[in-house]
Amino acid sequence: ETGDSDAKNLRVKLVLLGDSGVGKSCIVLRFVRGQFDPTSKVTVGASFLSQTIALQDSTTVKFEIWDTAGQERYAALAPLYYRGAAVAVVVYDITNPHSFHKAQYWVKELQKHGSPDIVLALVGNKADLQDKREVSVQDGTEYAEKNGMFFIETSAKTADNINQLFEEIAKRLP
Ligand code: GTP
Ligand code: MG
Repeated sequence: ETGDSDAKNLRVKLVLLGDSGVGKSCIVLRFVRGQFDPTSKVTVGASFLSQTIALQDSTTVKFEIWDTAGQERYAALAPLYYRGAAVAVVVYDITNPHSFHKAQYWVKELQKHGSPDIVLALVGNKADLQDKREVSVQDGTEYAEKNGMFFIETSAKTADNINQLFEEIAKRLP
């Protein structure tokens, strides 16, 4: 659901999920403040930020973003944040196959317990680290297709595809 909104001003609850260190907080910081922090601290519990974008048809979309903590000790808190979310962005690190498997775990959990009409995005982050890549574009694409998700590779460091991620999500809102 998109909250108490009309066709011109949508408000959207969005949750980011994924293993610790994949770059969720950096993606949000890049999107909201246009910055990158190479010394980003692990998130404790979750953090909240919002950002509004304008679409071509002058609709505005206000993303209310819950950036969750990826460390295992916080896994049980996740339902508090994805419950009622219109959008879930599941992030992995293209240099880390374990994080790709963890992403698949989150997708299954969202399919079981998320809103039935939730918009799911799969994000392969750290696309600037091509020489360290261990998850192929094809692996990401195929998994996303099989699960009816939108897929994109991003770099919070270079800003590559960060705005596109949120614009594509906005286009897919019901
Ligand atoms: P938790 O809060 O523990 O769940 O981790 P997180 O997913 O929020 O990771 P965070 O955004 O804190 O980033 C972890 C590390 O990855 C930091 O050292 C970042 O500088 C680095 N990082 C994040 N995004 C990128 C990226 O696109 N490219 C590169 N090269 N490094 C990145
Ligand atoms: Mg974080």
